Amino acid sequence: MDGLKVGIIGAGNMGSAHFNCIYSGEIEGMRVTAVCDTDRRKLEEIREKSSGVALYEDYRELLDNPEVDGVIIAVPHPLHAQTAIAAFEKGRHVLVEKPVDITLSAAQRLQEAARKSGKVFGIMFNQRTNSLFRRAREMVQSGQLGELKRSIWIITNWYRTQAYYNSGGWRATWAGEGGGVLINQAPHNLDLWQWICGMPKSVTAFCNMAKYHQIEVEDEATLYTEYENGATGVFITSTGDYPGTNRLEITGTRGKIVLENGVLRFWQLSEDERRVSAESLEGFAMVPTEYMEYQAADEPGHKGILQNFTDAVLKGGELLAPGFDGIYELMISNAAYLSEWQGNRKVMLPFDPTDFDKRLAEKAETSRFHTGGPESKDICSYLPRWKVRW
Ligand SMILES: NC(=O)c1ccc[n+]([C@@H]2O[C@H](COP(=O)([O-])OP(=O)(O)OC[C@H]3O[C@@H](n4cnc5c(N)ncnc54)[C@H](O)[C@@H]3O)[C@@H](O)[C@H]2O)c1
Repeated sequence: MDGLKVGIIGAGNMGSAHFNCIYSGEIEGMRVTAVCDTDRRKLEEIREKSSGVALYEDYRELLDNPEVDGVIIAVPHPLHAQTAIAAFEKGRHVLVEKPVDITLSAAQRLQEAARKSGKVFGIMFNQRTNSLFRRAREMVQSGQLGELKRSIWIITNWYRTQAYYNSGGWRATWAGEGGGVLINQAPHNLDLWQWICGMPKSVTAFCNMAKYHQIEVEDEATLYTEYENGATGVFITSTGDYPGTNRLEITGTRGKIVLENGVLRFWQLSEDERRVSAESLEGFAMVPTEYMEYQAADEPGHKGILQNFTDAVLKGGELLAPGFDGIYELMISNAAYLSEWQGNRKVMLPFDPTDFDKRLAEKAETSRFHTGGPESKDICSYLPRWKVRW
């Protein structure tokens, strides 16, 4: 294949940032040949700043263009699965924005289509390119931390204003977006959390609706999770705190790590604390501990994922963020909503999505898209705040 020719579906904030990056030649081997948006003004903007790019208002027409080998999907999340399925059915590779969709059932249908097509399926979990999260994952997965006991992630620096929520009628509504901070901002962190610590067996959640903004959905959530080995987790997120916090602490029987302020701090125990507790003759024993710290390296972010996806198609390289992984964080956030809607009951994973789908559809029926209020300006490049913020 002579390079990877992509079509971008959805040229809003994210899609136009991807367009600018690829069109200016920043991704080796990737070229943008087509763009689709239902909003003609977005297409006009692309026309004004480029040449030789085919423009479409209907993505099905873009998918028929033989000059499109793969697509980048950056439309509102409830359209992700159906768009990606159509692309796979046309034999195109797919890189979908996060979240993979808004319901587990849609994600399952998408997985099925991806499997059938045999094409490359990636997801834009750009924060997976951060060196500290990759190191944390390695430490947990290799057993360096011992058996996991607890993880706590306070990720409250996803601050958003009312103007942000007013900037797209689909935002922060049940019908348009299918949720709030858990479905829009926190998917990055929910994904990293499960990528590093594994999937929990249960989720109990408290989601506070419209606490800080005039929206329909949650702008604050607290999850309590339990894991197969008895470990527990707490995840707190919000778009209403300033200054917010980004602090991930993971404790195992052989040590503890804390990721905060761009540093991973590691306290490594000389022996397993469980053994010390069981065998020491001292009631207040101290365990010899070695301290290390690691600074975050430069984060390739979105460009890193675009390059990795291109290399996977052209050279058969391994994906850092396979699209199939998208279902995990979505299962956690769907479970959190289900827990909230059912009086904060404990939801066991995996679960049958039928009840979730019915409840979400009921909410969507009475959902109102937002209009009025101050609107934020269009964004056309990668914002620093889409990278990991400490
Ligand atoms: N990875 C990240 O860091 C990151 C950051 C921001 C947004 N996102 C994701 O990108 C997606 C888009 O978000 P955004 O902020 O760019 O939204 P946006 O509203 O700015 O852009 C969405 C665009 O899709 C277009 N669109 C809607 N329906 C369409 C259809 N059927 N066919 C073609 N175009 C259609 C809209 O006209 C709009 O221009 C979301 O899923 C969001 O979660 C990811």
